[in-house]
Amino acid sequence: MTAMVQYDFDGTTAVVTGAASGIGRQTALEFARHGASVVVADVDDNGAAETVDLIADDGGEAVAVHTDVTEMSDVERMVETAVDEFGSLDYAVNNAGIGGAQEPIGDLDEADWERIVDINLNGVWRSLSAEVDHMVDQDGGVIVNMASVLGHVGFQNASAYVAAKHGVLGLTKTAAWEYADDDIRVNAVCPGFIETNMLEEGGITSDEQLRQEIAGRHSQNRLGEPEEIAAAVVWLCSDAASFTNGEPLTVDSGYRGI
Ligand code: NAI
Repeated sequence: MTAMVQYDFDGTTAVVTGAASGIGRQTALEFARHGASVVVADVDDNGAAETVDLIADDGGEAVAVHTDVTEMSDVERMVETAVDEFGSLDYAVNNAGIGGAQEPIGDLDEADWERIVDINLNGVWRSLSAEVDHMVDQDGGVIVNMASVLGHVGFQNASAYVAAKHGVLGLTKTAAWEYADDDIRVNAVCPGFIETNMLEEGGITSDEQLRQEIAGRHSQNRLGEPEEIAAAVVWLCSDAASFTNGEPLTVDSGYRGI
């Protein structure tokens, strides 16, 4: 579906969190296709191993590292793995996320709020923190945070998710200014609704009527594919995006919020 652009990522290393499935897996595959070695970081060890196998089948190089983005020691190990295994950390995609409980604000348990924010927002901060530490010493790098079109607009029964994704955009814009002098670019991608496990688990793609309704909020009257988001991520990491920094790049077919 996406055009076959080719970037030269030979000799570089990319870390992708949440790379055991969906958008993260496709992004890991796309980095490898352009020549990068990839660290596949996820809590799901089986899915991560499958991603590594898919990259190897395609002639690429990857390693899996068990990473829970709610644990600082895990994200630090993830960065160390990139350096120990492949010698550098050039690109980092902070993509791990969950949909989580769907309730109106008054009914949402505090524990559910905290879990969703801890993974979707605090997890991005932890990852960023470990990544910039290394990239400053290494004299540069590129980071992409996975936000959402729900980083721009509201969505009923998803207050914690929406708040976390709005927060990811604030974090992205701030990090871009803090580290521009260190030759580190930090951007975000804001996908519309994409065909992944997250939508399956959230009951969106399993309910045909709801699926049609959500698809209809996109100008092309369909959901997006993970490949269409991975293409935007690698573009942001490439030199073609050398003057793009602090940008919430929206890839959502003109999603119409309600
Ligand atoms: P997915 O469910 O296929 O992938 C999410 C991955 O994150 C899974 O492999 C999961 O194991 C991993 N993960 C969950 N908690 C983790 C943790 N604590 N530490 C490390 N890894 C963890 O879902 P999808 O759709 O590929 O989601 C990827 C990102 O894209 C998420 O940040 C999501 O919010 C975002 N996104 C997804 C959209 C969609 O419609 N599918 C739309 C907009 C944004």
